[in-house]
Amino acid sequence: ASQFVPKHLLGKRVLVTAGPTVERIDPVRFLSNDSSGKMGVALAEAARDMGAYVTLVHGPLQIPIPDGVTALPVESSAEMLETVLAHFDDQHLVIKSAAVADYRPTTVHAEKHKKVHGPLTIELEETTDILKTLGMKKRDQILVGFAAETEQLETHARAKLEKKRVDYLVANHVATPGIGFGADENEVTLFRADGTVHRLPRQSKQELAHALLLQFKEAIR
Ligand code: PMT
Repeated sequence: ASQFVPKHLLGKRVLVTAGPTVERIDPVRFLSNDSSGKMGVALAEAARDMGAYVTLVHGPLQIPIPDGVTALPVESSAEMLETVLAHFDDQHLVIKSAAVADYRPTTVHAEKHKKVHGPLTIELEETTDILKTLGMKKRDQILVGFAAETEQLETHARAKLEKKRVDYLVANHVATPGIGFGADENEVTLFRADGTVHRLPRQSKQELAHALLLQFKEAIR
């Protein structure tokens, strides 16, 4: 049905990140999160259908990668940072819907970690904030961040909008059953850098992706 979608993004370059990152503890163990990549993949597909050249930088996914997009698989937040930075400069629109780890093990063991008697402590260090890095670096790109919140959605979303210097912040209340991580539907509040707010009601991630891109396209230069 993509031939019937108005080509609002014809010839534009759009980079989307999707899915979780995986932070290794040892060759067989890792820290990760519940992101399925459905939201990011829906955005990549919708941007493709609107005529964009789409680059999809994604963590490990159990869902199919759409045809007609350049898919760049990564594992860790460090790899995602490196890959996104390598493709950032010539994008018109960058959407960071991936659930990037905030912490990773300080030491990655080369061999499978042996069982110890008693409690085991894994020391974690902060990862680089990819979105914030892009916010500092951006020129003409329109930058979109997501915020996964379980409380005080508006306060936290507005803080992220400012701190990460994004043009749009898409906030989802991930503690609500049936939306957010892993779900087929989502419901979000869109915060714009000019202070205005737009609520998008619960709908499929595909419909929501389309509605969000109609908002973002307004800002592309
Ligand atoms: O993948 P699904 O199962 O479809 O679920 C969709 C989703 C819930 C994962 C998605 O809608 C979503 O909310 N994605 C962002 C999740 C997240 O990491 O939120 P955050 O509030 O922790 O991070 C805020 C923003 O900073 C995000 O754009 C994130 O990509 C970015 N970030 C975070 C940490 C980091 N080190 N680098 C980043 O770029």
